Amino acid sequence: MKLFLDTANVDYVAEIAEWGVLDGVTTNPSLVAKEGKDFKQTVLGMCKHVSCVSAQVTATDAKGMIKQGEEYASWHKHVVVKVPMTTEGLKALKYFRSKGIKTNTTLVFSVSQAILAAKAGANIISPFIGRLDDASEDGMGLIAEIMEAWSNYKFDCEVLVASTRHPRHIVDAARLGAHICTIPYDVFKKLPMHPLTDSGVKKFLEDWEKVKKG
Ligand code: E4P
Repeated sequence: MKLFLDTANVDYVAEIAEWGVLDGVTTNPSLVAKEGKDFKQTVLGMCKHVSCVSAQVTATDAKGMIKQGEEYASWHKHVVVKVPMTTEGLKALKYFRSKGIKTNTTLVFSVSQAILAAKAGANIISPFIGRLDDASEDGMGLIAEIMEAWSNYKFDCEVLVASTRHPRHIVDAARLGAHICTIPYDVFKKLPMHPLTDSGVKKFLEDWEKVKKG
């Protein structure tokens, strides 16, 4: 399972990359706006640390998406062009696949959307589970249905669980066999923590002091 950080903060990417467990980053226009930094420099900064950085197009027509996406892809070989799940987005996905430009389809909320994006040529699809939960729907249930559909075919398209809100989402996504999870910084920081690890380390160190004193 690949783990991505969902952020536009380069320092966060550098910090988590040092752990040796980070496979990629997802950005979106809202995350970029929150940081208030230059987009190209942000993406290039992240590309130093991981080999897969999603950069989202903001055009709404296929022609505009293709123009933006080609520019982003020219910045660095680690850039993955993020395209919204619209019919214009599908046209752009088909074009990008024909040119060998990697894509991630964002704002996926149904199995039918997931299938269309995969058929159009997306390398990654991103179902947003937290936003479905926020709307009283079953986000993880959607991942289960998509993984079931994926098991019937040979889609060359990874399922990225997006809009995660807590560590249990990552556990459940892994149990369902999802290929990737993108995780906010504060949730990522919770993943290594367990109180029994902390108390266990403390006790071992206390006992080792006794050994040293003889
Ligand atoms: C994924 O690529 C998105 O950036 C992200 O997971 C959206 O999460 P949110 O619903 O918390 O904004």
